[in-house]
Amino acid sequence: MTQRLVIANWKMNGDLAFVEALASSLPSLANVQTVIAPPAVYALRLAELAQEVFKVGLQDVGRHESGAHTGEVSAAMARDLGASVVLVGHSERRSEHAEDDAAVAAKCEQITAAELMPVICVGETLAERESGKAIDRVRAQVMAQRQCLRNAKEVAIAYEPIWAIGTGKSATATEAVQMHQAIRGALEEVAPLAAPEIRILYGGSVNAENAPELFAYSDIQGVLVGGASLDTEQFAAIIRAAAN
Ligand code: 13P
Repeated sequence: MTQRLVIANWKMNGDLAFVEALASSLPSLANVQTVIAPPAVYALRLAELAQEVFKVGLQDVGRHESGAHTGEVSAAMARDLGASVVLVGHSERRSEHAEDDAAVAAKCEQITAAELMPVICVGETLAERESGKAIDRVRAQVMAQRQCLRNAKEVAIAYEPIWAIGTGKSATATEAVQMHQAIRGALEEVAPLAAPEIRILYGGSVNAENAPELFAYSDIQGVLVGGASLDTEQFAAIIRAAAN
């Protein structure tokens, strides 16, 4: 777990011109691993431009290996495009596409079978936090992925409180650290052998201003960045913050 992980999730944003512009604007720092997850259709071009500066990720893949699943992209196709990382279980997938823990587990299995690195996204709603259920909710989401956590050669968890996504209202570093410690505990219970190598990322309104504070804590081993990753200068600043 020597390198911090900084992942850009473009969601349904960006275009080919942005792909070309981004590739030449990111710093390459020895102790930071940068991953860019564009919409799948841009992954191949981004991978051609990546050199050693960043890796390419996908935001999702299908839960089946192949077959009659119109509109889906398989994990093997992701690898073919040059991706080495796949986000899975993002809260927008869970809410907009009704993906439950079983669907996330099925996708995770496909991702590991294709020898790609899953980044399993977990997080609680505002109502769950306000009613004191945040830790139980997130622990349950982590534990539901025990098979994947045990089997993956490399895997990471991204803690993204739903109330902090796209709202400009990041969790405080203290809130993030408390949850990361709870996640670490859950990992040690369900995947004791793998746990020490599993990085835990924070996501939710991360920007160039709050990144240095988050990275002051060793419990935060990376970040998953939405909106701020669409501004190349700001995203480069987050990468530099991760290096310090
Ligand atoms: P924002 O950084 O825009 O809050 O998005 C976070 C996120 O969902 C990344 O996956």
